[in-house]
Amino acid sequence: MVFPLAPGIDHPFVAQQTQLLRQRWLANIEQLLQLADAHLALRQLAQQQPVFIGEQFQHANGLRGGTAQDFGINDGMGQHVGDSQRVAPMSIYKPIYWLLFDSTYQAIIEREPFMSRHTATQAFFDPATGTATYVVWDRASRHAAIIDPVLDYDFKSGHTSTGSLERVLACVRENSLQIDWILETHAHADHLSGAHELKKRTGGRIAIGERIREVQATFGRIFNLEHGFVPDGGQFDHLFKDGETFMIGAVQATALWVAGHTPADMAYRVDGAVFVGDTLFMPDVGTARADFPGGDAHQLYCSIQRLLQLPPETVIYVCHDYPPESREPQWQTTVAEQRAKNIHVRDGIGEDEFVAMRTARDGTLDMPALILPSIQVNVRAGQLPPPDDNGIAYLRIPLNTLPVHR
Ligand SMILES: [Fe+2]
Repeated sequence: MVFPLAPGIDHPFVAQQTQLLRQRWLANIEQLLQLADAHLALRQLAQQQPVFIGEQFQHANGLRGGTAQDFGINDGMGQHVGDSQRVAPMSIYKPIYWLLFDSTYQAIIEREPFMSRHTATQAFFDPATGTATYVVWDRASRHAAIIDPVLDYDFKSGHTSTGSLERVLACVRENSLQIDWILETHAHADHLSGAHELKKRTGGRIAIGERIREVQATFGRIFNLEHGFVPDGGQFDHLFKDGETFMIGAVQATALWVAGHTPADMAYRVDGAVFVGDTLFMPDVGTARADFPGGDAHQLYCSIQRLLQLPPETVIYVCHDYPPESREPQWQTTVAEQRAKNIHVRDGIGEDEFVAMRTARDGTLDMPALILPSIQVNVRAGQLPPPDDNGIAYLRIPLNTLPVHR
């Protein structure tokens, strides 16, 4: 029997979250609930009609039915769970999941800021798109850069939302940061950029690599964008040249051109770390694809070698993680670890071998789910297209144009 999903539950998203939850924390559910403030969870439950979650959801995620008492949350809260105990056991999950997804889950997955000599770096992982957003700040001056922010997008309804951005902005507020820069590593094809919204909220300047002009021209043609769209990079506040330095407070950072995934990819080197965009992924995942328009596996190899020539202790922050089931999402590694373990480009793997592997693998990959909405927003620095005369902004879908497989 399949119960209807509650209104507002995005089933694939919930399933993905739950999978992560099961892997990481089901064994420690008591601790988790303590973190989540079980009192609040149960108060919310008591205020709601019991909501059933699909049986397939329960089975798919290996969750057992149970009541609050099964989870060991019976200290002074029995009065709140009376209703839930009389309905199907799965009804307990909804408020708990909401709470976990909205607060505790994110708080845990963000973890603590990583402290370097002069800077602190806070990561935000978006499980929906596998994207890591970073806030890096000069600990002395509290001037900061935000790298690769995500604007949430619901494909089915066409709605954008700012849940991911709000978490970043909470970090900005809590640490009293002044946002100088909003840095894009490239025009992403998997998520909409939150850069424009963040600029409105923080005043930071949006920057990307200068070769974004080529990407704009390519996709301007593919999407046949309006005449007012000029592929000159003017949608961004600053275009970095290769090797250009810039300041985050008193900390000098360097923009590195690392093309291959796209012609315009940049990495940002800051205080003993480098934010590599879509070049290297975690060592057990490998490297970014190189089959988008303007992508080049040879160029990607050369760019990656450039990154791997940095000092071995250099911290690498990846742009995405697509973890295997055996581990939780990660986003931080080192040059030494990549050189020793990266399944695609560890030491000893030459350019020809890499290109053959990359080309064959890219031939098996589908287009990212959000490539069509993402690109046409991201070449505008995260701004939505201009509205039609009815006041509504529309996205375009070029039919029979992008490759299905290479
Ligand atoms: Fe990308």
